[in-house]
Amino acid sequence: MIDLQIISGTDRPNSNALRVSAYLQRQYQQEGIDAGIIDLQDFPIEQVSGGRYGEHLPEVDDFVGQAVEADGLVMVCPEYNGGYPGILKLFIDYMPFPGSLDKKPIAMVGEANGAFGGLRAVEQLQQVVGYRNAHVFPERVFISRVNENFDEEEGIKDQLQQELLASQITHFPQFIRDLQQDESLVSD
Ligand SMILES: Cc1cc2nc3c(=O)[nH]c(=O)nc-3n(C[C@H](O)[C@H](O)[C@H](O)COP(=O)(O)O)c2cc1C
Repeated sequence: MIDLQIISGTDRPNSNALRVSAYLQRQYQQEGIDAGIIDLQDFPIEQVSGGRYGEHLPEVDDFVGQAVEADGLVMVCPEYNGGYPGILKLFIDYMPFPGSLDKKPIAMVGEANGAFGGLRAVEQLQQVVGYRNAHVFPERVFISRVNENFDEEEGIKDQLQQELLASQITHFPQFIRDLQQDESLVSD
């Protein structure tokens, strides 16, 4: 069984990222995959106040450890000021360097109220996880006008975007399994 974790990429209360994550979790269940949700509202931010890089912080280690241990990640990424949310960068910065994202399969779902569905945010995020040697799944999905265009039960109202999301959900687990066939392509 694949250990898949969905990262809801903001700490904003009542976020669309969390609604999209919950939808994805149900869709993956239908594919026979029991995906977890890492909700960045729960990041123990008080533990890192003042800059605790490199220190042993058990709560932080446990929290980021869910992503470190996963076989694959789905990053649900809102767009904030033309980029991805600061809490998501903080989360990545507290993932142990260099091994924790090395060769990690990652699928990206952008969401924003704007017309481009978080494209800028996802592309910035890709630059960072690319630096950390992750395998980004080529089928990216962008949910534009998310407030009107996304329904927690039905998914995306735009038919093409919904088809792309369904395709990502079907094919991402196979991408992970294919990488796992060759031990040089996955981390220990
Ligand atoms: C701090 C902040 C900055 C935002 N900046 C952008 C932006 O640059 N482009 C955009 O299309 N929407 C922007 N929005 C709108 C969000 O994309 C929209 O509210 C989206 O639903 C936010 O995701 P969330 O609900 O998961 O927090 C911004 C929202 C917030 C709270």
